[in-house]
Parts: sequence; structure tokens; C-alpha cells
Amino acid sequence: VLTEFVDPREVFHSMPANPLIITDENVLKAWGSILPESVPVIAIKPGETSKTLEEFQRICERLTDNGYTRETTIMAIGGGVVGDLIGFVAATYMRGLDIIHVPTSLMAMVDSSIGNKVAVDLPAGKNLVGAFKKPVEIRLCPNFLETLPPEEVANGLAEVLKYSYIAEPSLRDYLKGWAEASVKTWHQVIGECADIKLGLCLLDPEDRYDIRAKLNFGHTVGHALEQVAGYQTIRHGEAIGIGMVVESVVAAEMGVTSCELSMKIAQDLRMIGLPTNSPLLNEENAIVNAILRDKKRTSEGIALALVTEPGTCKLYKDCPESLIREAIVQVRNTCSS
Ligand SMILES: NC(=O)c1ccc[n+]([C@@H]2O[C@H](COP(=O)([O-])OP(=O)(O)OC[C@H]3O[C@@H](n4cnc5c(N)ncnc54)[C@H](O)[C@@H]3O)[C@@H](O)[C@H]2O)c1
Ligand SMILES: [Zn+2]
Repeated sequence: VLTEFVDPREVFHSMPANPLIITDENVLKAWGSILPESVPVIAIKPGETSKTLEEFQRICERLTDNGYTRETTIMAIGGGVVGDLIGFVAATYMRGLDIIHVPTSLMAMVDSSIGNKVAVDLPAGKNLVGAFKKPVEIRLCPNFLETLPPEEVANGLAEVLKYSYIAEPSLRDYLKGWAEASVKTWHQVIGECADIKLGLCLLDPEDRYDIRAKLNFGHTVGHALEQVAGYQTIRHGEAIGIGMVVESVVAAEMGVTSCELSMKIAQDLRMIGLPTNSPLLNEENAIVNAILRDKKRTSEGIALALVTEPGTCKLYKDCPESLIREAIVQVRNTCSS
């Protein structure tokens, strides 16, 4: 796959033969004026609540109603929701058509547009129905971040923080002054994160060998929080931020890392402006039930990707449920915001 940085003027310079743009209403509002006029556009409602089978079906029906075939190439322009949902459409509509990702949120640039995973959520769990779909191209253009609201930038930085703990501690250096970061800095951050993810995905494209699993640090608990919230009151980045804190407490309880790790991560989250606690943590039974339904459960028990020291992450396949409960209670009672 061609993963390339492009100049904003060039994002829509070269177009595939039969293009169809699918985006969301916010992105259309911010960037509609630079879209090529001759290309049809479909805009979905923004937000995680669009990542459903119902929305998937609605889009497929619009495609049939308008006579789109396998010769169509979809350009998915947006954040992780557009990328995951439309990627799943591209993987399945008429058994698959070509897709080009144009990520516009930081989350999508550093993470979701890379690695070929596409999915929708079920009420029972996050990303429970999905596929692997390789795009023909990923066009990365950090200039799209100019219109991204600061809270959404912070949301994406949760994944940057994740990369710093699972792979490259120096990425933390970018976090401090993020609000004033230049396009050039974003280039570097996105490039480094994309390299880490591409490297892991190349070695383990279909998530079979415990290599790609490292990317799930914070996500077992984080996805459970999102499910408990009905995908409404917490952003993905906020959820995995708290998830990283809780999972690091589990790691300390298991004796595979120091007690300081969770505090250090909580400090980083505060610096970014992300929460370290949530009323959702009161619902420990619901969280544990969601974890038990998660894809990351194995026949051996609950699998958690745990950071042993900054820069090193390992998969532990049999983490005791009781320790996860204790960690949830501890974070709920000790983290300030
Ligand atoms: N497939 C993967 O490997 C993977 C990895 C990480 C996250 N994800 C998924 O990604 C999703 C979260 O992605 P997200 O945080 O991008 O959410 P999102 O797509 O909902 O985007 C966040 C918000 O920003 C708006 N937005 C996006 N780009 C904008 C721009 N340039 N200007 C103004 N507004 C803009 C959107 O309309 C939305 O309101 C979750 O569903 C998560 O599970 C998937
Ligand atoms: Zn994530």
C-alpha cells in the first residue's frame, strides 16, 4: 500500500477512474470546498454511533440505488469512524471494491487508517463485526488537522502516548507543546507513529502471532468502557487513556512492572488534557462482562498487552479477572479527574 504524505492541493489531484467520496458532515463542512466538484459525495452523521450495522446497510442500499458497482473506488475522507465503517462497506459491498483512505483526524492519521482493520460496533461490543481490507492508497495530509477541534486532537494523542509506551519513549517529547505544534511537527509525529504501526502489522498482518497485539495496550479496558457507555459519552482516546492506567495497575499487581508506571501515564494524560478517571469505572461488573465478551479473550483467560517498562510491551494471556476488578476500584478511588 502506498502510504504517502501529500500536499493539501494534491490530495484530490489524481483521482481514480470511478470515484465516490464518502465522508461525514463535519468534515464536509470544513473541507467540502476543496473536494472535486464532479465527484459525488455521501456524508454520514459524525460520531461513533454511526459505526453500526444499520448505518452500514443504509450506505450499501444507497450504493445499489445509485448503481455503484465494483468498478467504483471509494475515497473515505474522515476520522476513524468513517475509515472503519466505509472500510467495512468496501470490504463487503459486491464482495469488495477499492478504497482510498484520506484520514482527517489525528486518530485516523496515526492509527486507524493504517493496518487494514475495518469494523462496526455491536451493542454487545466494540468492533465485533469487521474484516481486513487493504486500501489501494492512504493519503496522509496533516493540514487537515487545522480544523480539528482541540479535544479531538487530544483524543488522537492518546494513541501517540500509547506508541510511546509500547515502542518509542521519545514520542512523549511531542506531547508537552502539542497545542502549538506546527504542520512540520505533526508530519514527524504521524510519520513515527505510522512507522511503528506499519512495522507491527507487516510482521503480523492478521493479528495471529501476538505481535500486533501490542497495539492493544489500554484497549481491553478501553473498549469495555466504550461499550458500557453505549458508545456515546466517552471518546475512543479518552477510554483507552483510562484503560492504559487501569491495565498498568494490573501489570503492577502482577509484578511485571513498577507501581510508578500507572502514575506516570496518568500524569501524561493530564498534561494532554485527557481524563484519568470516569464515572463509568463505578460499573465494574459491566466492564468485566464486556471484557469477557471482547475479542481479546483467549481460551487461556483474559489477555492484556502490558507495558513492562516504557518502550516494551508484552502479551499476557491469563490475567486474573480479580486483579482487573481491583485495578478498576483503585483507579476509581485514587485518580483525581
Ligand atoms: N481500525 C483501526 O485500526 C482503528 C484504530 C484506532 C481507532 N479506531 C477507531 O477509530 C474511531 C475513532 O476515530 P476518530 O477519533 O477519528 O473519531 P471520528 O471519526 O468520530 O472523528 C472525531 C470527530 O472529529 C471530526 N473530524 C474529523 N476530522 C476533522 C477535521 N479535519 N476537521 C474537523 N472535524 C473533523 C469528526 O466529524 C468527528 O466529529 C473509533 O471507532 C475507533 O475504534 C480504529
Ligand atoms: Zn485505539
